[in-house]
Amino acid sequence: FTPDTIRNFSIIAHIDHGKSTLADRLLELTGTIAKKTSGKNEQVLDKLKVERERGITVKAQTASMIHKYGESNFLLNLIDTPGHVDFAWEVSRSLAACQGAVLLVDASQGVQAQSISVFHNARERGMKIIPVLNKIDLPASEPERIAEQMKATFGIDPSEILHISAKTGKGVEAVLEAIIDRIPAPQGAKEDPLKAFLFDSLYDRYRGVISLVSVQQGSIRKGDKIVSCHTRKRYEVTDVGIMHPEEVPTHCLNPGQVGYIACGMKQSAEAHVGDTLHRAGEKVDPLEGFKPAKAMVFAGIFPIENSEFPKLEESINRLTLTDRSVTVQRESSSALGQGCRLGFLGTLHMDVFRQRLEDEYDASVIVTSPTVPYKIIFMDGREKVVSNPTEFPEVTDSSTRVREVQEPVVKASMIVPEEYMGELMELCFQHRGENLEHRYLDAGAGRASRIIITCILPLSEIVTDFFDQLKSRSSGFASFDYEDAGYKKSDLAKMSFLLNGKPVDALAIIVHRSKQDATGRQWVKKLHQVIPKQLFEVPIQAAIGRKVIARETLKALRADVTAGLYGGHYERKMKHLENQKESKRKMKKMGSVELPQEAFFDMLSTK
Ligand code: GTP
Repeated sequence: FTPDTIRNFSIIAHIDHGKSTLADRLLELTGTIAKKTSGKNEQVLDKLKVERERGITVKAQTASMIHKYGESNFLLNLIDTPGHVDFAWEVSRSLAACQGAVLLVDASQGVQAQSISVFHNARERGMKIIPVLNKIDLPASEPERIAEQMKATFGIDPSEILHISAKTGKGVEAVLEAIIDRIPAPQGAKEDPLKAFLFDSLYDRYRGVISLVSVQQGSIRKGDKIVSCHTRKRYEVTDVGIMHPEEVPTHCLNPGQVGYIACGMKQSAEAHVGDTLHRAGEKVDPLEGFKPAKAMVFAGIFPIENSEFPKLEESINRLTLTDRSVTVQRESSSALGQGCRLGFLGTLHMDVFRQRLEDEYDASVIVTSPTVPYKIIFMDGREKVVSNPTEFPEVTDSSTRVREVQEPVVKASMIVPEEYMGELMELCFQHRGENLEHRYLDAGAGRASRIIITCILPLSEIVTDFFDQLKSRSSGFASFDYEDAGYKKSDLAKMSFLLNGKPVDALAIIVHRSKQDATGRQWVKKLHQVIPKQLFEVPIQAAIGRKVIARETLKALRADVTAGLYGGHYERKMKHLENQKESKRKMKKMGSVELPQEAFFDMLSTK
């Protein structure tokens, strides 16, 4: 294939607008995968179990297909992108390898918060956008009205918009044609020195690291000696091919092509996303990389058994190879032992990572409650970013030389039907929202028109329960997106929890002063429910500095487990003792109090 017969594109959309379904249809139509007769949506590109379970695309996947159009065969490289706001980094990463994007909008739901953000992201990269209205088979779909909405929001000419049903396949052929007709061919000459852009990687148990590359110029073949601009390390290419949709070896990758290479990289860190690979002995200027992902939600991950730490760490390292936006640092806690502190783009990202860890590596873990990175500014002007409550100053007054504390804020945008406006405004205020603004998205008088609300919210509010509440208060109609809006001065404090007078480091949290009493009471109550009775009375306290905010007392347990069993029942007695031993094994000692793993789970899994 020469560049003029190659098209690199991605499908971008708000969550659930049908990307994976359309991708499947395109793969079927081009014969890349067999057509399903069962009529069930298998969604080939959603490979990970978590994706199938949650129905969201997490990891961007790539597939090549061949389509005959007119007299020629075209090589179409699809780069599938995830839809959720937490995964925006994955989206922009794959966008860098393509020249165009299919913008999919659900014709029954209309433009949603992330339709807007993905559109702007693609537009800023100078990509050609093919607007497509999906789900026109639904009785509730209103293609004409939504086309007008797209015109008002994006300035798209309604005559350019394709109308399809990814489910039934109606109109999908026209999408393939539009990709070929409207998206520009990639540039780059075969004779030029090799420049390959590394945009993703996966780990294969047998072959080590497999890198996904987009060849910008020159060509790459088996046996080539290549060098990474980032690490200056040298490798020999041992395998090269395209994703069709699984790896299919080819003898080379030419300019404009997207495919995989294996070159004996052993360590995840060697495949640096955004790196440029070139041929040994040739000099090239590296391609412009990416803005690195910024982790905004941090949590500690600990093994249940301390001895399992090396295995856990190894599993985490493997997983971070497929998801480079996760940051990893070692952490040790007096309560939970050795663990890792991980940074994520958002809470969904964190949940998905934990689930993948459990699924793929059979690891059971304790995750501490999520925190955002806070900025501590000292009297002398020094700044420190703290992403672990244990590093947060006990009190932040002049005696500790802290001048102020700042927290990250975001610019949030929500799109809802007009009747929910009041509810959502209130929700934003409750979550310390500021600079609230709203405007109408479409001027459809007399119809259920939609409004877009924007405001500045502290990120920590979103990290807890904002999203769930938004969904329930808008009966599921609200869509939500946010972008970084820097840091803002805030009145925050570290809240510690004490069991039997001893603080448990892994439970500490950062709270806004206006919410300290309510939060303290709530957590103490919860702890009281989950901690099993001990042989002695245990006070449970929430404190800020030396000041106790809330307290509950756990009454002492009287009898031991074998009491009430008579001498004759030897076996039963042994069984009880054994059971007790078993649950002892899973205990984490918190101060002098034994806390079973389940209690920890319960405590940390609900906010
Ligand atoms: P994420 O990957 O989670 O962002 O979602 P997605 O955009 O890939 O959406 P997906 O393809 O998983 O589709 C979401 C839902 O819409 C699924 O239940 C699909 O079966 C359904 N769907 C997709 N396209 C159509 C369509 O044309 N008509 C109808 N009626 N349903 C559709």
